[in-house]
Amino acid sequence: MAESLGTVEVNPLREALPRTRVPDPCAVVLFGGTGDLTHRKLVPALYHLARGGNLPSEFAIVGIGRRDWSDEQYRDEVKKSLSQGADPDFDAFWGQFASHLCFSAGAFDDAETYTKLKERLAQLDKSHGTRGNHLFYLAVAPEYFATIIDQLGAAGLIYSHQESPWSRVVIEKPFGHDLASARVLNRDVSKVLDESQVYRIDHYLGKETVQNILALRFGNSIFEPIWNRRHVASVQITVAEEVGMAGGRGAYYDTAGAIRDMVQNHMMQLLCLVAMEPPVDLSADAVRNEKLKVLQALPTWSDDDVHRNVVRAQYTKGSIQGSEVPGYLEEKGVKPDSRTSPYVAMRLTLNTWRWAGVPFYLRTGKRLPKRATEIAMQFHKPPTALFEPEADGASGANQLILRIQPNEGASLAFQAKIPGSRRRLQEVRMDFRYGTAFAVPPPEAYERLLLDVMLGDPTLFTRTDEVDSAWRFINQILDAWEKPDAPPPVTYDAGSWGPVAADALLDGDGVRWRRL
Ligand code: BG6
Repeated sequence: MAESLGTVEVNPLREALPRTRVPDPCAVVLFGGTGDLTHRKLVPALYHLARGGNLPSEFAIVGIGRRDWSDEQYRDEVKKSLSQGADPDFDAFWGQFASHLCFSAGAFDDAETYTKLKERLAQLDKSHGTRGNHLFYLAVAPEYFATIIDQLGAAGLIYSHQESPWSRVVIEKPFGHDLASARVLNRDVSKVLDESQVYRIDHYLGKETVQNILALRFGNSIFEPIWNRRHVASVQITVAEEVGMAGGRGAYYDTAGAIRDMVQNHMMQLLCLVAMEPPVDLSADAVRNEKLKVLQALPTWSDDDVHRNVVRAQYTKGSIQGSEVPGYLEEKGVKPDSRTSPYVAMRLTLNTWRWAGVPFYLRTGKRLPKRATEIAMQFHKPPTALFEPEADGASGANQLILRIQPNEGASLAFQAKIPGSRRRLQEVRMDFRYGTAFAVPPPEAYERLLLDVMLGDPTLFTRTDEVDSAWRFINQILDAWEKPDAPPPVTYDAGSWGPVAADALLDGDGVRWRRL
């Protein structure tokens, strides 16, 4: 172990800041410690947490990976992951942060890796005061999830379920490839871990704006009375992305497609937060019980229903913001005859008293004109038209738009009278923007989620029954698509707003996709 790891330091930056939630002393073990997720998200999140005084002084980070790196080499690599220019005190703080970092080399399926890890963690308990509390983060390919958990158990690194010291395991997505594999994984996980020790991450739940859906609905009293079928005509949930298969993702993505990569997890979670009943309190189980009921109210579909209600599509070459981009089938790692679809749109209804008959339209896709995630609640038109039609041809109905990203905020569209002698209306907006309402920028999703694991708060993580119910719904779609007579994916030009068939999904309701 490098010398600088030998002392427990007090973090003066933390002591200077107001502390709200500082977790127990602990060691964070990053499986996949040299991988892309660690580099892009986890290390920056841990750094910002430490920088903001949200980590205890007694903490350590152990990267695990196959490369034969020393602690010093690992620190040099980690340093490259941090955007140093953004922090004027980076140099002063870095030395301190680096002294909490170390590396342990080994293969994930080799028992020796875990023997070494156990020794290292015992040393850190002494040198860094981590007190036997261990967070294991599985930032690895899904085929290693069960192996790592099994090996952790065999090496005696998982305590039987107990409050202190604790062991917690964070499992990245995808949790399973379909319903059957998710159940097998769950069975393997539960051989070693109690459900309370498992944190299945969905980073959308860590986004401040996603959490704000609950605040808007249940922290105010004016929205909830109209949040139902009597007042809401339809709901649109859009997660649009400009990116294609950047960063060598093609090979992974081609095994997943938008349905597994975005819909089964992120979009189902957004749907849950929009559609759930008020929980009795904000405890993890109260919130997750209500989300589960939404997933249980998803429709049961025949193959024909799937083909009628779900559109899958691949982009062909096109241009985004002036740059030529290849089609999906030309992307590196994608099979030239692939049927995997980077775009999915669907129309569904929920079988509940609150929502019966209200269409929910979901769409997500790569290589759309811009990155934008939003939820739009479309309210009914007034029952009679007293005024002249709106000047701009707008629908005349109210809309509440929750902008998840970018331009985070919310706006309410309503009609106002155009000044003058005529009784003409025009749509205007009341707008709330995070950027102007709050001085502090929202923390990155991974910061919030890592902190919650350390604090032992699973509210923003998906419970096993949620995963199961979401897969049950998605599985019917996968099954229908896999049939030999299933219609192949349709196409759209990269840089367009998706295929014509997606527009047709809404035609029967007399609705259009919002232009973002
Ligand atoms: C990930 C998906 O979970 O979410 C990616 O695997 C997607 O394909 C990403 O690009 C989107 O996340 P965000 O936070 O950029 O909206």
